[in-house]
Amino acid sequence: MRHMKPSIFLALAFILTLAACDQGAEDKAKSEAPAAPTAMQPTLPALPEGMGVLPTIMPQPADNPTTAARVELGKTLYFEPALSKSGQFSCNSCHNLGTFGVDNQRFSIGHKWQRGGRNAPTVLNSGFWSKQFWDGRAPLLEDQAKGPPLNPVEMASASEEEVIKRLRQAGYEPLFVEVFGGGPEALSYDNMAKAIAAFERTLTTPNSAFDKYARGEGDISEAAKRGMRKVDEIGCTSCHSGPLFTNNAFQNFAFGTDAGLKDVTGKDEDDHVFRVQSWRNVAMTAPYFHDGSAATLNDAIRIMAEVQLDTDLSDADVADIAAFLETLTGESPKVDFPILPRPAGQALQWRD
Ligand code: HEC
Ligand code: HEC
Repeated sequence: MRHMKPSIFLALAFILTLAACDQGAEDKAKSEAPAAPTAMQPTLPALPEGMGVLPTIMPQPADNPTTAARVELGKTLYFEPALSKSGQFSCNSCHNLGTFGVDNQRFSIGHKWQRGGRNAPTVLNSGFWSKQFWDGRAPLLEDQAKGPPLNPVEMASASEEEVIKRLRQAGYEPLFVEVFGGGPEALSYDNMAKAIAAFERTLTTPNSAFDKYARGEGDISEAAKRGMRKVDEIGCTSCHSGPLFTNNAFQNFAFGTDAGLKDVTGKDEDDHVFRVQSWRNVAMTAPYFHDGSAATLNDAIRIMAEVQLDTDLSDADVADIAAFLETLTGESPKVDFPILPRPAGQALQWRD
């Protein structure tokens, strides 16, 4: 059963896609038959250029297919506090799947109550982003997942070996061998990251009010429609473009003290450059910006208009744009908390 659920999820996505195709074929047949009524066809709204429904399937690298077995192991590791030195922090501590993949803190609390210097972005939909982190320093989710267990202000494990040793003590070896094949070496840091990334690639948020509206299945408020037109008119969507509401590019954001991409590349032209953040679920991921300095969505909208577009928005425009962004909140994936492997009769060894 444990291994069935993600395959059911994928099968469902597939069936839904087929159903959508069937619907299309039916509609086509109807429109070709001269006397057929067309009243059943949903009227699709006219959307500003580029806007559209969230894609259902995330791209996956050739060496890490999103198989049901990898997803299930990755889910277990995602909730596994044994990745941390203290045994207290899992990925879910800071990217809580009960609260849209964030902790709603300005800066997350990590090992020994330390706080880092950046706001934790959501893991939801993150497999759609061109690169990971505000400054894009990790190309893939696989690269990203290797960071937190060893980061001294996050999970603070001493080394990859220490993490693997603890996972072995917990009883992970047979699970890794089952998923990746081979012998005891299947339990490796690389495979840990692959499994977590495969799980993250299932974390999409379909069926937002906007998506239903775009498919002709529902309506959004007049305020949200005004906001939708406004962001197009004033140019927000030159960066927050397409169905993901980000062009996935890196842009200057002359705000705050963080040097962003410059700290990665050392180049002056990369000073204060950050990845354009998606608007998907943004209403649920306050506070905002890489430094979490904008407490409310309205503040973030106003600051963006000023800094990026040199525009002072009226209160009414800000409210309309916020109403539109709220329609981009999708269905957060329902994830059962996994049972973690543990040895009988003894606790894992934690360090202070
Ligand atoms: C102590 C809090 C904390 C823990 C624990 C943590 N993260 Fe993060 N995560 C962050 C912060 C903060 C950032 C942003 C850092 C940056 O951009 O420099 C981040 C960034 C990310 C991103 C990039 C998202 C994006 O939009 O670019 C992903 C994906 C992610 N974390 C997944 C994970 C996974 C998987 C784990 C467990 C292995 C994990 N995180 C553990 C705080 C945490
Ligand atoms: C020139 C490109 C550009 C334009 C134009 C732009 N943005 Fe942004 N936006 C960004 C970047 C880059 C970020 C990430 C900022 C950071 O690093 O803190 C961002 C972040 C945001 C965030 C915060 C997301 C989060 O998760 O913290 C919101 C909300 C937002 N933009 C709304 C808007 C609105 C509304 C407009 C139009 C008034 C707009 N943006 C115009 C590039 C742009």
